[in-house]
Amino acid sequence: MYRLFFHLIFKRMDPEQAHHLAFRWIQLAVRVPVLRTFLAAALAPRYRELRTEALGRRMHGPFGLAAGFDKNAVAIDGMTMLGFDHVEIGTVTAQPQPGNPKKRLFRLVADRALINRMGFNNDGSASVAARLAARRAVFPATVGVNIGKTKVVPEAEATADYVTSTERLARHADYLVVNVSSPNTPGLRNLQAVDHLRPLLTAVREAADRTVTDRRVPLLVKIAPDLADADVDAVADLAVELGLDGIIATNTTIAREGLGLASDPALTAETGGLSGAPVKERSLEVLRRLYARVGDRITLIGVGGIENAEDAWQRILAGATLVQGYSAFIYQGPFWCRAIHKGLAARLRNSPYATLADAVGAEHQKVTA
Ligand SMILES: Cc1cc2nc3c(=O)[nH]c(=O)nc-3n(C[C@H](O)[C@H](O)[C@H](O)COP(=O)(O)O)c2cc1C
Repeated sequence: MYRLFFHLIFKRMDPEQAHHLAFRWIQLAVRVPVLRTFLAAALAPRYRELRTEALGRRMHGPFGLAAGFDKNAVAIDGMTMLGFDHVEIGTVTAQPQPGNPKKRLFRLVADRALINRMGFNNDGSASVAARLAARRAVFPATVGVNIGKTKVVPEAEATADYVTSTERLARHADYLVVNVSSPNTPGLRNLQAVDHLRPLLTAVREAADRTVTDRRVPLLVKIAPDLADADVDAVADLAVELGLDGIIATNTTIAREGLGLASDPALTAETGGLSGAPVKERSLEVLRRLYARVGDRITLIGVGGIENAEDAWQRILAGATLVQGYSAFIYQGPFWCRAIHKGLAARLRNSPYATLADAVGAEHQKVTA
């Protein structure tokens, strides 16, 4: 039904307008108590076998919403109502910024993909922190806070910019993500080089510890699928060295491989980050590589091209404790999350693993056994 709706209505609209419309509906639905209770009961993960622990939190299921959908933390309850067990808000920057000029979001329907060059349009970390502080949660959810660099801030001052956002946001975060991998802020991805990343992550860790003294806020870094394998290894080693809590793999890609011939070449030529089905293979490869390097010393979150329960299951076997998605939600709609959790529960039941945690990274044990 959603697919019909998508083809009749959303596909004919500008992608960003369609996003705002869907967003409004979700926010409206969550304001109606009977409706939200009904939807949450139908869609939220309720499979005992999927309960797991990650980043010091008890989770009802491993599947969550990737960063970029709820940049300003205005729809956490709405997304939880739709079944996402964790919601990563952001990317939030220290200063508010409008992002790139429109049009900046493109649908490659035949490739089940998106290209975006949003450029971190967001209200800024002071506003988002105030919103999170005032939030009265309707549904329990794990809230990740993803931070990035303000566009006008020079690369040399990036650390101070991240530290400002950390000081404002860390206390509201169940986990904090340093995003150094979006392709739409000039120079941002240079921060993935370990020489830049080490002082940045150290400073953010210190800022989080300084501002939140009653608990330790888990700190993760989000990386690009375009990193060379040696650089993926270097980030993995650095994460272990610094005692980081996790790595999120991956963000969107600037590559255009994996696109079929069906999408309009004018669309595939748009600059920005490509997400959805074409990034699946490389995201899985990066995740595998990370797990082979860090094992269970660090929590890995798998994201990129996850479309169904089988994709999510493959990420778990490859080493992901949690999995996330964004693009396929646009194409598959409000029942997507439920289908993923349901399919994961079935796969786990039919597998040799007693718990979800046992399945994490299991394909590596098979290889080395
Ligand atoms: C429109 C759009 C905006 C995004 N914005 C952000 C962002 O602000 N911060 C971030 O870390 N990732 C952002 N992402 C990347 C996603 O979080 C995710 O890593 C990527 O899309 C791959 O997952 P997917 O194939 O399931 O979409 C964005 C993705 C899309 C499609």
